[in-house]
Formats: sequence, C-alpha cells, structure tokens
Amino acid sequence: KSELRVGVAGLGTVGASLVRLLRRKADSFAARCGRPVTVTGVSARDRSRDRGIDLSGTAWFDRAEDLAVSSDIDVFVELIGGDNGPAEASVRAALAAGKHVVTANKALLARHGVELARLAEENGVSLAFEAAAAGGIPVIKAVRESLAGNDISRIYGILNGTCNYILTRMEQEGLDFSECLADAQRLGYAEADPTFDIEGFDTAHKLALLTSLAFGNEIDADAIYIEGISSITRADIEAATELGYRIKLLGVAQKTDSGIEQRVHPTMVPRASAIARIDGVLNAVAIDGDAVGEVVLVGPGAGGNATASAVLGDIADIARGLAIPALGRPVGKLSPYKAARMRMH
Ligand code: NDP
Ligand code: HSE
Repeated sequence: KSELRVGVAGLGTVGASLVRLLRRKADSFAARCGRPVTVTGVSARDRSRDRGIDLSGTAWFDRAEDLAVSSDIDVFVELIGGDNGPAEASVRAALAAGKHVVTANKALLARHGVELARLAEENGVSLAFEAAAAGGIPVIKAVRESLAGNDISRIYGILNGTCNYILTRMEQEGLDFSECLADAQRLGYAEADPTFDIEGFDTAHKLALLTSLAFGNEIDADAIYIEGISSITRADIEAATELGYRIKLLGVAQKTDSGIEQRVHPTMVPRASAIARIDGVLNAVAIDGDAVGEVVLVGPGAGGNATASAVLGDIADIARGLAIPALGRPVGKLSPYKAARMRMH
C-alpha cells in the first residue's frame, strides 16, 4: 500500500512527542499499519524554536490552515488547542478539503463536534479523537466500539490529570495548591490556560464527548453542572483524610428518570474504593453496561507520550482504512443538572 502522509499542526507537548514517536517507531508502526506513515508537513507559531526534533526535509507551514489543505498530506493532525481560532479554522478546512482529521482537542469538539462530525461525513473522511478524553486511555474506542452491545446507564471517573496530580500531591506531600499546579504546567499536563483544568471545564468537555458516545445524545457541554478544585485547601484534604475519604474531581453522566444528568465536581470518595487509589496524573473511567457490568479503565490522563499514543492509534486506524464513526446523534434531550453539591464545606 502507498505511504500515508501526515501533517501535524502544533508542535508543543503532544505534537513534538507525536513526531518523535512516529520517527522512532517508523518501521514497527508501518508493519502494524500495513503501510509507511510519514510526517510530510508541520505547523507551529515559532519556526526558530528548538523542539528536540529534526524538521529538515519536512515542509513547514506558518499557517495551520495552509497545511490543512496541502496536497502533500492525507491526514491532518490538530494539536494546537482552543475551541476557535486556528484550531477550528484548520480542522474545518481540512475536512472540507477531504483530509482525515485526528485531534486531541476536547474544547473544540465539545463546542463544535456535531458540526465537525457532519462535515466529516459529508466529505467521506474520518474525524478521530481518541486523545481528547482521558489522554492515553483508549476510552473512546471502548465506549463506541467494544461496548457497543451494551445499554450504558452510567459513565464516570477522573478525567483530568492535572487536577488529580494536584490533589494527590497536596494530600501525600502536604504541598500548596499553587506549587502543585506549577509542577503540572512544567510537566506539560495542564492546558495552555490552566483555568480549564482547575475550574473543571476540561473535565466537562471530556464528559460531554463521553456522554454523547455512551448515550447517543448530541454533545451539550452547557448542560453540565461544573465545579472545579481551585478552592480546595490542604485543610479540606486533611479533614477528608480524618473521615476516611479522599477528594477527587469526578465527571459523572448517568441516566435518570428525567434524562441524562452530567456533572463535574470535587467528591469525597471512601479511601478503600478503587477510584480513591488513582494517584497522580492517572485517570480512571468506569462504565456501567447492562451486558458487561462495570468496566474500569485506568491509565495516564495527560502528558506528551501518553497522549501521542492515543493519536497514533487513530492514525493507525486511518492507515488501515477503518471507517471511524461520527459522534452521537440527537436522539434524546440532556437534562441540566442542578442537584445539591456533593463536596465538603
Ligand atoms: P502546547 O501549548 O504545548 O502546544 C501548542 C502548540 O500549538 C505549540 O507548538 C504552538 O506553537 C502551536 N500553535 C499555537 N498557535 C498556532 C497556530 N496559529 N498555528 C500553528 N500552530 C500553533 O499544547 P499541548 O501539546 O499540551 O496540547 C495540544 C492539544 O492537545 C490541546 O488541544 C490540548 O487540550 C490537547 N491535549 C493535551 C494533553 C497534554 O497532556 N498536554 C493531553 C490531551 C489532550 P509554538 O510551539 O511555536 O508556540
Ligand atoms: N490538561 C489535561 C489534563 C490534558 O490535565 O487532563 C489531558 O486532556
């Protein structure tokens, strides 16, 4: 089979890791995909920045939108971030030009996922986003494909690596919130604007995608009750510990008599529970299906290589010619969640 040509827009934490992995694994990845996969074009803001990757021989595009429609790529990988601006414009341009798109951008999909999925369908191309929820955990594929035989009643978990990393270190090392957040940023876990992490918006974006896949509803991040962890103090954590609990930021979507409830908030979980033992940058997603029972997936929720691993999985599917189904259809209404808060104070 012919080579699959990939354009990568965004060469930060995830994009640079992706290019590095694709280069290092060129032979084994080609064997798994049944054809060579080559990065033929890249785009970022600052051409002069040292990213620890050799870009000689790879076409550079100052504008992601130009890379997106280049005749030298078959797949456009968007790793810029943001729910508008160059990320949105380039993804739209790529789909309209008949390029497959792979993205890790949950903010973009939570806002424009339905339109983008339609655009992909109209143009007969894939819109793949395994990396957009729970980093390296293959949860999109699990919900959409492996668990397709189940009616799902609930999906919940720890969906943000930055928050779990902060809460874990505050508890285990007695550090302050701001110190832990600074470390999460240095390690490349946090969003460009970390407000998205600590105020719960990033968890909500991921939850909105998982809800859509699990329940078949149109994505609606606005229907989610959201509360983040920015006001959690060491004293809160110590109090929870004394009572036999740990504090975790959970995203929960479940079927109720009045529709699908979606909520994001810090939650006190019993220390002996499986979810309480998820530490650091790890994420965990629990899915209740009527046939299978409860399935729990655990793995790294953020970080360059872990996220690039998920992106590579999507590229492999495209290289093998697998059709990637679109997002959920508007078959039911989501119910805004207004219930009492489940946190301490
Ligand atoms: P970074 O901030 O590290 O990298 C963003 C990259 O985008 C930079 O290389 C930047 O260029 C480039 N960029 C900015 N503006 C433009 C533009 N107009 N045209 C082309 N390139 C541009 O982000 P991450 O790698 O952390 O995240 C990328 C995406 O992946 C985001 O959507 C994020 O939510 C998602 N994600 C991130 C994870 C993580 O662990 N970091 C995990 C899962 C998903 P320059 O380098 O020149 O400034
Ligand atoms: N900022 C996100 C997190 C990246 O910490 O989980 C992974 O989506």
